Amino acid sequence: MQRCFQLAAMGKGKVAPNPLVGAVLVYQQRVIGEGYHRCYGGPHAEVHCIDSVTETDKCLIPESTLYVSLEPCNHFGKTPPCTDKILKHGIPRVVISVTDPFEAVNGSAIRRLREAGVEVITGVLESEGRRLVEAFYTFHTRQRPFIVLKWAQTADGFMGSGTRVRLKISDALTDLLVHRWRSELAGIAVGTETALADDPLLTNRRWPGKSPVRILLDRQLRVPSNQKIFQEASPLLVMNSLRSGASQNISHVKIDDWDSVDGLLESWYHMGIQSVLIEGGQKILISFMRSGKWDELRVIVNTQMKTGAGLKAPDVPDALPEKIQTLNGEEIRYYRNLNNT
Ligand SMILES: NC(=O)c1ccc[n+]([C@@H]2O[C@H](COP(=O)([O-])OP(=O)(O)OC[C@H]3O[C@@H](n4cnc5c(N)ncnc54)[C@H](OP(=O)(O)O)[C@@H]3O)[C@@H](O)[C@H]2O)c1
Repeated sequence: MQRCFQLAAMGKGKVAPNPLVGAVLVYQQRVIGEGYHRCYGGPHAEVHCIDSVTETDKCLIPESTLYVSLEPCNHFGKTPPCTDKILKHGIPRVVISVTDPFEAVNGSAIRRLREAGVEVITGVLESEGRRLVEAFYTFHTRQRPFIVLKWAQTADGFMGSGTRVRLKISDALTDLLVHRWRSELAGIAVGTETALADDPLLTNRRWPGKSPVRILLDRQLRVPSNQKIFQEASPLLVMNSLRSGASQNISHVKIDDWDSVDGLLESWYHMGIQSVLIEGGQKILISFMRSGKWDELRVIVNTQMKTGAGLKAPDVPDALPEKIQTLNGEEIRYYRNLNNT
């Protein structure tokens, strides 16, 4: 199963909104096939895995065990059901980490395989398996995107200058990491003041892969059209309280509920946006933290830099970071929201 997870991770940034999945076929302790879901709309992991078996080993398939990190699909989507392929090849035993929460699957593949006489074992390394598909899982079980909050702060806890002058905190290496995150998440959002002060493009320019859908949270439409965010050709959603409508790559989306982040989350859910990186500023980050509707927090701390004054970074959760990564004198502190809703 660990090998399934390794394989699955190779699809990062390429398969969304489909989940990352890896599969391994084993005959008497020997791996005879491997596969993973490589790109959105392409064959599933189980198909690549079974098809990778050599001509000589094909006769062993009906005596082999298929390990797969997520319950196989049981419906016609962009590809035929994987359960058909498993049954057609007479695989007698399937070991699954996580059941698929997607309503068209949701345990039905397990039932179908069992009814056909296949031995099915579930829940193997389940928490690790769940972690791999957490955006997909959160989206389907909580009916909202997986929310990652991110900011950079100085050693003395400031995230901005406090004026419209940009305070650059992270260095080029950390920026590369941030662009990688952009390639892995479906959307990226900033607030009005951040758009005005930092004039960001919000694209992924430094890491291979796609750019996320760019989202500007601009209730009163205060950000002028000559800001860079409007000059860039990739899709932009402007969440606001005044109007809806689309022109070329820019869509204005009017929402009425601005008392909490629920209106935003509901709207993104209906647009099928499975994960969003919230890049600030302070007010937006605090509104998500207060709501409890966030899943991961990534705080970049420049341990060499102190400003003594400026815009205070939000308070981090009481719990210790789950992981700390060090890059060129900067620390990236990863927290998880254990009380997310
Ligand atoms: N260090 C970092 O990682 C980092 C990252 C981003 C930004 N920054 C810095 O942060 C500063 C901007 O932060 P900020 O706190 O002043 O502003 P902000 O969070 O970027 O924007 C706040 C404004 O966005 C609008 N808004 C829309 N939806 C909102 C919601 N759900 N909750 C709250 N506000 C919402 C409100 O404007 P209306 O009242 O007009 O509706 C609000 O005043 C800049 O200096 C920027 O450089 C730093």
